[in-house]
Amino acid sequence: MAESAVELPTERTPGRPFDPPAELSDLSGRAPLTPLHFPDGHEGWLATGYTAVRRVLADPRFSNRGELQHSPFPEHAGMTAPPAQPGDFLKMDPPEHTRYRKLLAGKFTTRRMAQLTEQVDLIAAEHLDAMQRHGGPVDLVAAYALPIPAMVICELLGVPYADRERFQADAAQLLGPNTTPAGKYKAFEALSAYVRGLITAKRADPTDDVLSELTAGDLTVDELAAMGGLLLAAGLDTTANMIALGTFALLRHPDQWAALRTDPHLVGPAVEELMRYLTIVPTLARVALEDVELDGHLVKAGSTVVLAMAAANRDATKFPDPHTLDLRRDPAGHVGFGHGPHLCLGQQLARVEMRVALPALAARFPGLRLAVPADDVVLREGADIHGVTTLPVTW
Ligand code: HEM
Repeated sequence: MAESAVELPTERTPGRPFDPPAELSDLSGRAPLTPLHFPDGHEGWLATGYTAVRRVLADPRFSNRGELQHSPFPEHAGMTAPPAQPGDFLKMDPPEHTRYRKLLAGKFTTRRMAQLTEQVDLIAAEHLDAMQRHGGPVDLVAAYALPIPAMVICELLGVPYADRERFQADAAQLLGPNTTPAGKYKAFEALSAYVRGLITAKRADPTDDVLSELTAGDLTVDELAAMGGLLLAAGLDTTANMIALGTFALLRHPDQWAALRTDPHLVGPAVEELMRYLTIVPTLARVALEDVELDGHLVKAGSTVVLAMAAANRDATKFPDPHTLDLRRDPAGHVGFGHGPHLCLGQQLARVEMRVALPALAARFPGLRLAVPADDVVLREGADIHGVTTLPVTW
């Protein structure tokens, strides 16, 4: 029997900061693909089942162009995103998307990322030293979770870390709570403008980094600026929130925190399980470019399909006992980095950072604890990225 249409559930249950809204998990078991009412009157679809989500993400009949999408969030009702600027390939479809992505594929290899581990080790140790000198309580986001990805992406791209004030706020705005499509456009423009200035300098005097390598090709300055802006933004708040929210989750599961500290073999699986359990990119969206039969339903051309990534990663048909954080499970196939042609380009980099940052923190401060009651930790509500704005900790 066809389910009646729902509106997108966005409220998390109080006291359950790591779980997707309960209605989403409920739908995932009952109706993995459900008709969805959008606040602007559009009638589209909501995918909550693991298989349905992966099918949409892998199917070239679904587009990621922002200007075709209807927003499921009431505060953005009726607002449309402008078409992607040349170089901003996240919001493009193949073949344009493929052309840009190919230029970068060789620059984010597992091997190159592994070579960065030593630098990440040093960056983490420096920040742990500073925390120790300062003494608790400290805000883990500002003291540790954000500086690590910021320094690493600066290093990789060849962006001066000293300029961070100039790009961190725009990057945060781009993925931030309740930023409108127009606000995102403005933030992206500001980021690209910043990168444009760097490119001019790198063209004249190339250095050993990804932006310099890209400038050697035949991309225009506009394309380079947008690509650089996308790379700079994509890896900052994402990884920072995985480190901070991941720590919060571990501190709320002391047995798991202790396991991470004592069993070095657990680090790789632990990071994957945290990616599954937390799914900090909780929703994505795609638009059907033609009529598509999916899961026994007809998704008509032009329909927006909201993909509840957090529910897919808690789908009991794929992950037994899905609401339990269990660092010893094998969560292979989770969709925390997406799936299909837009699968996160920086995933190996993010893994290197998380695999260093989390165990180093646990080793340095085995007695780490929240400095406020858990219910007082402020979550990023309504954001493209789930996480915390601050995480007061002490030891
Ligand atoms: C734990 C941290 C991270 C998470 C959870 C994450 C998550 C994601 C997800 C879910 C997507 C797919 C978006 C879609 O299909 O619409 C994506 C794409 C992307 N990510 Fe990440 N990401 C992380 C870290 C990074 C880092 C460190 C970088 C480094 C630059 C990065 C760069 C990108 C880029 C460029 C794309 C677009 C890929 C494309 O369109 O082909 N990400 N990420």
